[in-house]
This record gives sequence, structure tokens and C-alpha cells, in this order.
Amino acid sequence: QGNKLWGGRFVGDTDPIMEKFNASIGFDQRMWDADIRGSKAYAKALERARLVTSEEKDQIITGMDQISDEWSRGVFMIKPEDEDIHTANERRLKELIGAPAGKLHTGRSRNDQVVTDMRLWLRDAISTLKENALQLMSTMVERAAAEIDVLFPGYTHMQRAQPIRWSHWILSHAAALSRDVERLQEIKKRVNVLPLGRYKMNTQNHCLTLFSIHQHSQSLNRIFFLFWGSMCLTHLSKMAEDLLLYSTKEYSFITLSDAYSTGSSLMPQKKNADSLELIRSKAGRVFGRCAGFLMTLKGLPSCYNKDLQEDKEAMFDCYDTVHAVLQVTTGVMSTLKINPTVMEAALSPDMLATDLAYYLVKKGMPFREAHGVSGKVVFAAESKNVALNQLTMEDLSTVSPLFRSDVSSVWDYSSSVEQYSAPGGTAKSSVTAQVEHLRTWMRNQ
Ligand code: ARG
Repeated sequence: QGNKLWGGRFVGDTDPIMEKFNASIGFDQRMWDADIRGSKAYAKALERARLVTSEEKDQIITGMDQISDEWSRGVFMIKPEDEDIHTANERRLKELIGAPAGKLHTGRSRNDQVVTDMRLWLRDAISTLKENALQLMSTMVERAAAEIDVLFPGYTHMQRAQPIRWSHWILSHAAALSRDVERLQEIKKRVNVLPLGRYKMNTQNHCLTLFSIHQHSQSLNRIFFLFWGSMCLTHLSKMAEDLLLYSTKEYSFITLSDAYSTGSSLMPQKKNADSLELIRSKAGRVFGRCAGFLMTLKGLPSCYNKDLQEDKEAMFDCYDTVHAVLQVTTGVMSTLKINPTVMEAALSPDMLATDLAYYLVKKGMPFREAHGVSGKVVFAAESKNVALNQLTMEDLSTVSPLFRSDVSSVWDYSSSVEQYSAPGGTAKSSVTAQVEHLRTWMRNQ
């Protein structure tokens, strides 16, 4: 164990299987840049604390820059004894600059480093995901603006509910994304705190977090990030499911572009929406990472335990997955074609039964009663096997004397959506206001 950074008190060698089992370099090398940036900043702090001379600090920084160069050119040689990214970079620093390398670890532990590196890495990752999410949002908002006149059925329980604008559906998902971006910013604020130099439990003067044990034992940022990924992908999986239904021959509301579809090896006619199915599936994957890491955390004793090494693969996988999903969803949303004629033809007069109840409400009937009367009209139409708007004046007046010839104004999908002009409503003015609201919101991000 002599060649290990912690090898002093050891005489026996590590079992090779244990060596592999213990190592995190296979995945935490992704944080090479964060690790180097952290070490360079730490070297400067050590100089200010007079723990290294200014020459030693310069040597450390030059050495770290060279290591950075090796990593970025893909020529950094990982050695079998490099347990993780922190030991690998320090081992290499020693090879490059000799003794002063040994001073870099004064007052810090790998536990500090790992927390610092993950914060730095996560900060960049969060910026990228925010950009990805904003790009998807803007694709959706602009699409909603362009296709605002298209009406189609709104569903609850997967049953036709009321006519809505297609844009209204799009914006409901864009709004969910805006909340996701807000929550991501919250995480960024929490991530942006420096824990370096906490070494395990006691606190050195130059540190910036207030609760040092908490810093190491909670892993809260990673958990929040995993919660966030689960939440964001849950939204997108719901949206993908709607689109999948809309893309079936039975609905035929939308046609997915070839770029985001695949074929069947057996049935030549098939065009499968694999992109949407995978978007739908990834929520389960990220949620599994989140649940898995929470299981690891549960019941851990305070402060650092090696169990926490498990957080990185969960964090990287959450990032990679959400990153890919956001980009593919942007592609899907910017290339799919809608079939407005089919969408509007899918509207049926029974979807105006609520409006029929409001017609009676406007004539003074309490809503509960009006709901019942309108229900009876629906029943009458079903019994006669005709559409709601095909019942005669006579049929209607048998159900309620309040029905007059002006009831014909109810049978119009455009005026149905136009009457809901309160904020959040289906009227063109309301949906335009939603578009404007999200455009302004995006500009302020
Ligand atoms: N590779 C370790 C991790 O990811 C670094 C910290 C190791 N610390 C320790 N005391 N063994 O958690």
C-alpha cells in the first residue's frame, strides 16, 4: 500500500477485487476539471494562510494547469493505484512538481474535495440543463403562438371534456417547465456554497459553510438534484404520453417527424414513436436513481461514510438522462406536424354540455340544477341516437321550459372557447396573455 496517499500505516496489499470495488476513478474522473479548479483555488488560500510560499503556490498552479491540459487532450494516464479523481490528480502533481505537491492537502480531506468538486460540477451541469429547458420552452411557446387558432378536444379521464385550443395544451406543459426551471435555480443557490477545508468535522477559519458536519453527511444538493430530475421528467413523461396518443392512427392529431420515429423490422407500415416512449420511460429511470440513493442515505451515521461515494453515478446519470430528454423533446416539439382538420373534426356537440348548463345558469337556474338538466338532455340525445345539437326545440322544452331558440348559439366550438376569457381561460385573448407571460418570464431568466 506504500504507493497510496494514505499508505503509511499499512503493510499488507489491497486485494485486487477490493481495489476495483473501492475505486471511483472509473466514473468520478468526469469531475477532473472541477477537482483542478478547486485545488488551484485552495492553493491560493493556503498561500494567504501562509501554509505554502508564493513559489510553492505557483508550482502547484503550474502543475495543475499541466494536468488539466493532459485531461483535456485525453492523455492523462490513470494508474491502478489511482483510487479516485482526487488521488489521481494529486499523484500526478507529485510526479510533476515533487515535494510541494504534498502541501496541497494541508487542512483539507478528500471528503471536502469530493463535496466541493460535486458542487462545482453540478453548478455547470445546472447551467446547461437550464439552457436546455429554456430552449424547449421557447420552442413550445412559439409553437403555441403560431398555432393558437387550432381547436381540439380537451380530455379528463381520457374522455372528451371540453373544446380547448391546442396552444392551451402546449402551454400547460411549458408552464410546468417554467416551474422546473425555477426549482433548478433554487438548487443552484444551495450548490453555490464552498465547503472546502472542512476536513471531516472541525472547522478551519477560511471556510464558508456554517455547518461542517451537516455539509458532509447530508448530501442534500445531490438529493435535491435527483428529486428535481424526477419531477422534471415526470412532467415530460406525461406530455410524451399525450403526444403518443395523439400520434396514433385512431387520433391522428399529430404526425411525428421521421427524425424522431423508428420502424418495425417485421411490419413495413409501422412508424413507431420511439422518441416519445423513451422520453416517457426516463422518468422511471431517474426516479429509480433518486430512490436508490435515498435508500443508501437512510440510517447512515453522521458525517462522511464511504456509502456516499454512490451519489456520483446517480448524479451523473440523472444529468445525462435529463440533458438528453430535454434535447430530444425539443427536437420532437419543433418538428412534429399537426393535423388541424382532424383535431377540429374530433370535437363533438356532447363536449358542449357544460356550456348548455351555463346557458341555463344565465337564465337564472342554479348551476347544480342546470347540470342535472343538461345531463337529461345528454340522455335524451343518447336515447334518440342523435347528436346533442340535433335534438328538436320540442325535445329540449320537454326537459326544461327555459330552453328557447337562442340555444342554437351554444352549438359553436369557437364561441365556446371564446367565452372563457378570464386569466388562464381558453379564449384567444387569455391564451395570448399566457404566451406573453411565458415570453417575458423567459427573457428574465
Ligand atoms: N472517492 C470518495 C468518494 O467519492 C472520496 C472520498 C474518500 N474519503 C475517504 N475518507 N475515504 O466519496
